[in-house]
Amino acid sequence: MDPSLVKIPPMKDLTVDNITENVIRINSLCRDERMKYVLERLVTHLHDFARETRLSTTEWMTGLQFLTEVGQICTDVRQEFILLSDILGLSLLVDSIDHPKPRGSTEGTVLGPFHTHEAEELAAGASMSHDPHGQPLLVVCTVKDTAGNPVPDVKVDIWETDSTGHYDVQYPNHEGPDGRCIMRSDADGVFWFRAITPVPYPIPHDGPVGRLLKKLGRHPFRPSHMHFMFEKAGFDHLITALYLRNDPYETSDAVFGVKDSLVVDIGTAGPEVAEKYGVEEGHALLRYEFVLVSDEETRALRARNSKEALDRLGRRVKIVNGLPVPDLD
Ligand SMILES: [Fe+2]
Repeated sequence: MDPSLVKIPPMKDLTVDNITENVIRINSLCRDERMKYVLERLVTHLHDFARETRLSTTEWMTGLQFLTEVGQICTDVRQEFILLSDILGLSLLVDSIDHPKPRGSTEGTVLGPFHTHEAEELAAGASMSHDPHGQPLLVVCTVKDTAGNPVPDVKVDIWETDSTGHYDVQYPNHEGPDGRCIMRSDADGVFWFRAITPVPYPIPHDGPVGRLLKKLGRHPFRPSHMHFMFEKAGFDHLITALYLRNDPYETSDAVFGVKDSLVVDIGTAGPEVAEKYGVEEGHALLRYEFVLVSDEETRALRARNSKEALDRLGRRVKIVNGLPVPDLD
């Protein structure tokens, strides 16, 4: 770019007090309004963080070295950056902001680093786990909209660990999906399958994120859970999970994913359920009703929440597609 075209004041002799304003000013050449806003706020908070903590050069370099190691351990199945975001509470925060849920709908939670795209679509009633050591579990769920109508033909992605607390992709020699599947809700909004009762497991803690947890005096465990992801045109994408009540880690999840409305009890199949789903009476049973929110409702709620949050902060912005951008009018 020809420097004479850059319409900004000359930047020299920058100090602790004016560097922020100048970085923001040169970044404001960006033509993407949303990106400009995000970078402006990022630089402001990063610089304030350094000023407030009186960040030393050694600490800054330690941080950069840490992020380098996080990047170096990443592969397509080892997502250390997602883990880092998870253990800092950022993943849950972003999901809560971007996928607001009206009362009565199913809350979202963290995606985690173990979702893959290799799950196969299985027929209703199929088993998604081949682990002979797991406790067999029948799962019967319905999907409804916020008005209580069943939602058919929803693509539901489901994944869980084996009985040792490992996802299939954590085995170096894994061949094909196990402990994961895709189901479709039927005309009554029902989908059902066989799985195993989830168990608690530690997030991968042999890398930089694990070392950070240790240094912070935190354990790496997640309470027993099963992941669900719902997709259907016209509905907000729902990423959630169900957690087993009274798990030892129910209130100290390493990635902050547990919500009361997602905590479930494992029941047992009575005679009617046993007959209908072809299991023995007394078989372990998990039932849950998921409630999806329409795109339209989510968009409106997101925009309203954005406006309220930014008003509270006293920022002069306008809201475009539910997201704040600089208000230059
Ligand atoms: Fe998980």
